[in-house]
Formats: sequence, structure tokens, C-alpha cells
Amino acid sequence: MSTQGKSSRTDKVTTQTVVEMKRSGEKISMLTAYDFTMAGIIDSAGIDVILVGDSASNVMAGFDTTVPMTLNHMIYHTSCVVRAVQRALVIADLPFMTYQVTAKEALINAGRMMKEAGAHAVKLEGGKTITDTVRKIVDAGIPVMGHLGLTPQSIYKFGTYKVRAKDEKEAEQLLKDAKQLEEAGVFSIVLEKIPSELARQVTELVSVPTIGIGAGHYCDGQVLVLHDMLGLNKDFSPRFLRRYADLHEIMKGAVSRYIDDVKSGDFPNEQEQYN
Ligand code: KIV
Repeated sequence: MSTQGKSSRTDKVTTQTVVEMKRSGEKISMLTAYDFTMAGIIDSAGIDVILVGDSASNVMAGFDTTVPMTLNHMIYHTSCVVRAVQRALVIADLPFMTYQVTAKEALINAGRMMKEAGAHAVKLEGGKTITDTVRKIVDAGIPVMGHLGLTPQSIYKFGTYKVRAKDEKEAEQLLKDAKQLEEAGVFSIVLEKIPSELARQVTELVSVPTIGIGAGHYCDGQVLVLHDMLGLNKDFSPRFLRRYADLHEIMKGAVSRYIDDVKSGDFPNEQEQYN
């Protein structure tokens, strides 16, 4: 199998596929999506994994944080994405306070995400404090992705979206958390906004793939928020973000030309109406 360029796979991507991709050295591509149309486009482009992130709170709903997102919001977004996808693995975030109270409640909520939305796996933020919960969900047959480093649901504890684990103590804890998540049964771990050297250590430490966002090139895969990489969010420019398009300008230009055509009477013309 090629270890460079786009995946030649045409079969459905599963949690086993991404673990195998780490073993064979094939990088894993992951993007967020929250709706049917966008999910269909990125799936047809060949993306390996689609994350229905609770970043929907920011980019779809306009909240400042991911904290307000509810399970019903996430089930709605995930079901829209699942209906569009033919090939990619679809992972859904469990939102804030749907898995932190008890492991039993977490399992019920993860189950709703699978049964009502059709997700293929769920993602939970945190390390040692959630390992019992992860074990319970995995034991029930639901694949779990972990998420360490900058965990946005804890923004009010952190107080900032700056790079995490720059000091030795936090870095050591993160390494322990990654190992414990692996032992609890996660099939993959997102590493958000940590130094690339620490991401390298985690990636070498665990047998499951690491997916980085602002965590450098040693990770087994990369994830970006779709609206950021397409240039729809003009105001968000962190160092780690590479923009692949300027859709904000393209959409604004198209709408502006439409307005001009309506105002001038140029639209609709003879061919664009019924006789
Ligand atoms: O919610 C989200 O989009 C995420 C990614 C940034 C990893 O968790």
C-alpha cells in the first residue's frame, strides 16, 4: 500500500482501518462537518474521517465556547452528516456534561448517539478522570476516540485557548493520560495544541493513532475545522491553521453579483423563466 498521497481505499473506513493506517505508516486525514451538503462534498473528495465536532457550537450556532452544546444538538448535526456519507468514518463529539457525571449516564448518551444519529464512534475530552467511563462505553461495543491537550469543554478551567502542556508536569500527566486512555480501549486520540515534540512522544508511546490539531507533523493524522481551512471564518488565524481557499470572499462576491443582477433587472432573463 502506498504511504504517500491520497488513500487509494474505496471501501468504508472503520476504526480498525485507522489503527491499521498507523501500523502501515499511512497518514490519516480528518475534517469536521456538521451538515449534509458539506459532509457529502468532503466524503466524495476522499476524506478518511469526519468529526461532527462540538465546534458546531462556534461555527454553526455562533456561541463563544463549546459549553452550550446539547446532546440533542449533536444528534441532529450527526444525523445530517451520516445521511451524506458513503465512505468516511463518522465520529461524533459527546458534548459537555453528557459524560462527566456518571459512567452509566455517559453510556446511555453514547448509545443515543449511535442509535438515533447513526454515528460510528464517539469522542470524549479528558484523561484519567474519564478512563472508567471510556472502558464502560467500549465494553458496550461503542468505539471511543480520546482528546487531550487543549480540551475546549474545559475552557473555564483553563481560562485561555493557549498551547497546553508546555511545562514538564503537565506534559508528564498528558503522557500518562494517553497511556491510560489506550489501556481503557480508545481506538485513537486527538492531540490539540501541544508542542510537537510532546506529540511525537505520545505518538511513539501508544499503539493507537494520534490525530493532531496544532500538534505538529509527528502525529499519525491531522484534523482541521472545515470552516477554518476553507477560509469561511475570516477572524480566526491561529499559527497552526493552513487555509486552502478563501470561501468568505468567493461567497461574498457571488452574493454581491446576485444582488446587483436582481436590482438591475438582469436576473432572471428569458432563459431563466417559464413561458
Ligand atoms: O470540536 C471539534 O471540532 C474538535 C476538533 C477541533 C478536534 O474537537
